[in-house]
Amino acid sequence: MKIENPWKQNPWFESVAVAQERARRRLPRPVYGALVAGSERGQSAQSNQTAFAEIGFAPHVAGQLPDRDQRTTVMGQEVSLPVLISPTGVQAVHPEGEVAVAHAAAARGTLMGLSNFASKPIEEVVATGARTFFQMYWTGERDVMLQRMQRAADAGALGLIATLDWSFSMGRDWGSPEIPEKVDLKTMVRMAPKVATKPRWLYQFGRTGQIPDLTAPNLAPSGADGRLGPAPTFFGAYYEWMTTTPPSWEDVAWMREQWAQISGEKPFMLKGVCRIDDARRAVDAGVQAISVSNHGGNNLDGTPAAIRMVHPISSAVGDQIDVLMDGGIRRGSDVVKAVALGAKAVMIGRAYLWGLAANGQAGVENVLDVLRSGIDSALMGMGLSSVHELSPDQLLVPPDFHRALGAPRPAVLEA
Ligand SMILES: Cc1cc2nc3c(=O)[nH]c(=O)nc-3n(C[C@H](O)[C@H](O)[C@H](O)COP(=O)(O)O)c2cc1C
Repeated sequence: MKIENPWKQNPWFESVAVAQERARRRLPRPVYGALVAGSERGQSAQSNQTAFAEIGFAPHVAGQLPDRDQRTTVMGQEVSLPVLISPTGVQAVHPEGEVAVAHAAAARGTLMGLSNFASKPIEEVVATGARTFFQMYWTGERDVMLQRMQRAADAGALGLIATLDWSFSMGRDWGSPEIPEKVDLKTMVRMAPKVATKPRWLYQFGRTGQIPDLTAPNLAPSGADGRLGPAPTFFGAYYEWMTTTPPSWEDVAWMREQWAQISGEKPFMLKGVCRIDDARRAVDAGVQAISVSNHGGNNLDGTPAAIRMVHPISSAVGDQIDVLMDGGIRRGSDVVKAVALGAKAVMIGRAYLWGLAANGQAGVENVLDVLRSGIDSALMGMGLSSVHELSPDQLLVPPDFHRALGAPRPAVLEA
């Protein structure tokens, strides 16, 4: 007779915070630290989350509606809830990495954002059936960027996400985790004390016969014969990025135009917009969508919480393009607040990484389910039947909450 272990933990979790705690216990310290991320003082990373707590609800006591609909359309794609997978370039969380996340996105009816620095090639990710948007940084020569766009289009990417909000300000007051150049035997032996205490994490990799991959397969060079060369290491790829001249607005328009030609007019999103003037320039450059974002607090520390910038930006350009937001989403009510303030949908980063670390594909599905049920509860309490009925006046928003960065100055000052 098989005796069940009575202390075995139920792998289901009820909140993203519980998933994070499981991830913290499960992952080696440097891997967990790489997901916590943040830059400098960590002020933006933290306020992305805490700003949501300043917004409140005014629920009804009766008169709630029995059917509540979360479906919406983003960049031409119908999604079953207004939550998308934001691209994150993280290795070593789980052996199936982005492939597990993509399976979960497909199973839950949403879109998958795949990072330039992902550990799995786009072909494998698209093969899961997930509707995939490929993310690119401004890195490398133009012909190399064109090759990468072509590869993504050939693989079946449904859109491109250009992430340009990166200023290489990485110093963290709490110190950065060590990322080895290459995961070879020597490195494994050196890092053994940090990973030996995490047998469950090691066991997952042991079962697949793989060790965590620290290369960027989607940045592999194409040879003259069209074949892909070896994937660069994480540091090789980072060096190319650091040494690329930063893009101008003409470059953004160029990238958008090239992607339109290569892909047959598939959508282009500019991720990382914080200012109204930049949002307008993005519209002029021809983008179909933007994400209001401070890169999860990993870019310039001191940038306001993403949620504070949503309403001013969506009011300015929301009637011309899809305005999304990302940063600090940990519960369904956060999604509802963002949508009420004008975001068409949100993208999540760390939330699904905690789910992935805690329980692989099922963990990511669990996170999406937690968000879906939280959205449903908030709609129910507010007496609404659809996310399309949300508006700012249904929230309790403190005065001075919003940050209208780059707003045009009034031409005439009132006396
Ligand atoms: C560990 C980590 C790696 C990330 N890597 C990328 C990346 O490769 N490309 C990108 O566009 N954004 C990247 N991001 C930013 C996310 O796409 C997203 O903007 C951010 O995580 C949203 O904040 P949240 O984590 O609070 O949800 C990364 C974020 C984290 C935490």
